[in-house]
Amino acid sequence: MLTKIPFFKIFYFLILFLIISANSIAQLPNVSGSKREHISIDNDWRFALGHAYDVSKDFYYGTGGFSYLAKTGYGDGAASAEFDDRGWRKLDLPHDWAVEQSFSPKGSFSHGSKAIGRNFPEASVGWYRKTFAIPASDLGKHISIAFDGVFRNSIVWVNGHFLGTEPSGYHGFEYNISEYLNYGGNNVIAVRADVTMEEGWFYEGAGIYRHVWLNKTDQLHILPEGTFVTTTVKDNVAGVTATSAISNDSEKPRSFDITQTIIDDKGKALAAKNTTGVVLKPFAAKDIKSLLNVSNPKLWSLDMPCLYQLITTVEENGIVLDSYVTTFGIRTIRFDANEGFFLNGEHVKIQGTNNHQDHAGVGVALPDGLQEFRIRTLKGMGCNAYRCSHNPPTPELLDACDRLGMLVIDENRLMGTTSTQLNDLKRMITRDRNHPSIISWSIGNEEWAIEGNIKGARIAATMQAFAKSVDSTRYITAAISGGIGWGISTVIDVLGYNYVATKNTDEQHKKYPDQFSWGTEEGSTVASRGIYENDPDRHQLAAYDRKQNDFFYSLEQGWKHYASRPYLAGMFIWTGFDYRGEPTPFGWPSVGSYFGMVDACGFPKDDYYYLKSWWTKQTVVHILPHWNWQGKEGQEIRVCTYSNCDEVELLLNKKSLGKKTMEQNGHLEWQVKYQPGTLQAVGYNKGIKVGSDMVKTTLPPVQVKLSANRKAIRADKKDMAIITVEADDKNNLRVPTAQNEATFSITGPGKILGVGNGDPTSLEADKYVERIDLVHIDTLKEKFVDDLNPKAEVAEHYNDSKWQNAFMDTRDDEFGRKVKAIVYRAGFNMPADVAAATATFFSKNIGTVQNIFINGKEIGHQIKVADLNTDFKLDASLLHPGNNTLAIVATPLLKANIWASVNTDPGLIQLVYPPAPYKRKLFSGYAQVIVQSTGQPGTIVLKASSPGLKSSAFEITAAEK
Ligand code: GAL
Repeated sequence: MLTKIPFFKIFYFLILFLIISANSIAQLPNVSGSKREHISIDNDWRFALGHAYDVSKDFYYGTGGFSYLAKTGYGDGAASAEFDDRGWRKLDLPHDWAVEQSFSPKGSFSHGSKAIGRNFPEASVGWYRKTFAIPASDLGKHISIAFDGVFRNSIVWVNGHFLGTEPSGYHGFEYNISEYLNYGGNNVIAVRADVTMEEGWFYEGAGIYRHVWLNKTDQLHILPEGTFVTTTVKDNVAGVTATSAISNDSEKPRSFDITQTIIDDKGKALAAKNTTGVVLKPFAAKDIKSLLNVSNPKLWSLDMPCLYQLITTVEENGIVLDSYVTTFGIRTIRFDANEGFFLNGEHVKIQGTNNHQDHAGVGVALPDGLQEFRIRTLKGMGCNAYRCSHNPPTPELLDACDRLGMLVIDENRLMGTTSTQLNDLKRMITRDRNHPSIISWSIGNEEWAIEGNIKGARIAATMQAFAKSVDSTRYITAAISGGIGWGISTVIDVLGYNYVATKNTDEQHKKYPDQFSWGTEEGSTVASRGIYENDPDRHQLAAYDRKQNDFFYSLEQGWKHYASRPYLAGMFIWTGFDYRGEPTPFGWPSVGSYFGMVDACGFPKDDYYYLKSWWTKQTVVHILPHWNWQGKEGQEIRVCTYSNCDEVELLLNKKSLGKKTMEQNGHLEWQVKYQPGTLQAVGYNKGIKVGSDMVKTTLPPVQVKLSANRKAIRADKKDMAIITVEADDKNNLRVPTAQNEATFSITGPGKILGVGNGDPTSLEADKYVERIDLVHIDTLKEKFVDDLNPKAEVAEHYNDSKWQNAFMDTRDDEFGRKVKAIVYRAGFNMPADVAAATATFFSKNIGTVQNIFINGKEIGHQIKVADLNTDFKLDASLLHPGNNTLAIVATPLLKANIWASVNTDPGLIQLVYPPAPYKRKLFSGYAQVIVQSTGQPGTIVLKASSPGLKSSAFEITAAEK
């Protein structure tokens, strides 16, 4: 007898069959014909500082009779394609010019007191220019330039055409430049960034500090950031909803097919969906949405952050035109108002940190590898969540979080509900929505004017609803410092508490039992790494965890609050890494924050081990302070241990000072009378020794020691290694109090990107870059002569006081008939240290043929107008401090027609001063050097020397793969 199978079961099996068969037929898409190119254009830019209001120092942009806003293609000065940028500095992106500036008490202290901003108009505008070739065969393609982020208020031109202004320093932006390009020729991008105004209250950097790309596609293409992948998981099958937005930017209707294919981390196709016969009118766009299934998905988790890819291809008449790869993860997230946060159905207590974008040595211009280093450092103490305070981050940071398994709050900069502000929120979400690491969009942080009132409630409610309309799969949060029970806290889905010492979270939970909540900022402790005595005069704070004041808990109090309340999903420490600016509780001359669990280089402070004890399952025993207290013999020293063992025993010179029992989420303390030697902490679980830590009194340092996070890097001009510098005593013990200054040199295919030591009071340079002075020669006088060979008039000290100013007569044909040749003369000043510089005269022709003399010596002979823009290296003996003379004998340049003008600029002298060698003092025994590949394979050798110490060398291999 046949058993009756219920319909829903048949349906279930049918679905399963379809999934399995769909999976078994899925093929890797053919992407070989795709016209899409995603080209990094980070290398070979020119850079110079302009000026916030002095047009003559801002390369005269916007001064023409018709400005770039009046007529397209009218970019003038440095915005013009013809502008002569030969004297500008050459550099590769990412670049942050703020970090290259000196410190000043007049700088913004919240930004790290760098000499930029409102008080420094001469250092607050930066110009970037790049020349790039476009082949003739590209004609007909859709070509755009994409900036991942420029700080800030950038204006971009291509070939003198104004493309747009982007006020935000944190959003990416992309301009279609297809119509403006010279196909089969050179093209020029010019960017002006202006950091006169700040956006935040923390170090923000300056310039093109993220990557820049050239994107080429067919006119029919997948829109930038046009894919959106969401996932659900049920009965071990993932439902993947893949949306791909296609745009037809051509003038004809297009009919095409779309294939969306999911591949796994091994490159195997798992599921695919074809959508055929899609038709798009000219300049129309459409979302193609498919549901694909992945059975037995490998879920993205903190320990196994498995990633998949969606490959979207666009095919027309059987020809693949476009393909686009979207990386995503399969995972579920859920908040519960009583139990906190769940990832893939498993409870995860949020053990988060807040972080700004900057790192020692490099400011905000981080090479991608440094993002990975920072996330790994945070994971090392058990941190599982990262709040991008207080702005959308660099894309590669999110990639690192996806790859390494770190949850993320992605945060909007300024709260508001105008269309511009909502659009900024949308831009953040649209750019970042495929990152599995992101679990929450934060609409804002501590908006003091509104957070506790009705306007705040309205603004937050609108922003929250708007954010959900763009992405309904993430939870919306806002970080609030006050007004709990009012304003934003009454409407927000996930309430973010900033600092609970002054707030009653239990009361709010009782009042709003359905509201999810977490601590968006907590544990605001302040400490100098490796320092164990407060010294207010030197702005040093002992690294023992403590309450800053009545408004903040200590780290331990903060964590205990969150750990003991299941309804609180967890907390984000303020902060993971130290950052530049906000040197609370000090001001100038402190320039960096004290909040970090690790310093600005990533060297752990002791608090790191408190967290590691309670945030990881590894056995931790950590002891503080160091044991170098010469002169304090017999005096009591406060000793703490951080550990997750049941008991910790302390031994001074092998003599037990007793065992103490560890309280959950606590720490242990002793007062120990100082004797040099060893102080050891031994951890026991159930009476069995499971771990230990020891501090030892050291001798004075005798040698510099170098070590690195990596010994081999890729020879790709991007990869990098992080070198730790320390000073050891003769027994190879690191001296924790060493403050020696080390000087660095590098050979082989590598360069130093920057140095740091984690000292918030250090006013030492992060970067040593060449100094470039440009000496313009602009007050020419002239005398008409018979031929190109006058002798006396070109001499250095010839008296030309009676000569007329040059170019007073119109350079028309009549002038040409009258005047055979002209001697032009101008004086120019050279600085006292000119001999230390490499000097180049970047000449521009002011005659059809010209001979050029500097201080009476001929440097250029019979230079023809066709030889355009000739460069002359000037021998050191040619120039001297004070007044020098340029003389040019030329046959006249004439106007081609009455509207034309002739060049009156003879060129400029560039003085390049080589940078001083990199150096840095050790702070509490450590410094850091970041070394980057210069592109070629080979052995990079970093050497460190320090007066009185044995020097050291470290080798890094740069290899092609
Ligand atoms: C918070 C703020 C953070 C940081 C911190 C310093 O109020 O949200 O950005 O400024 O204070 O204590």
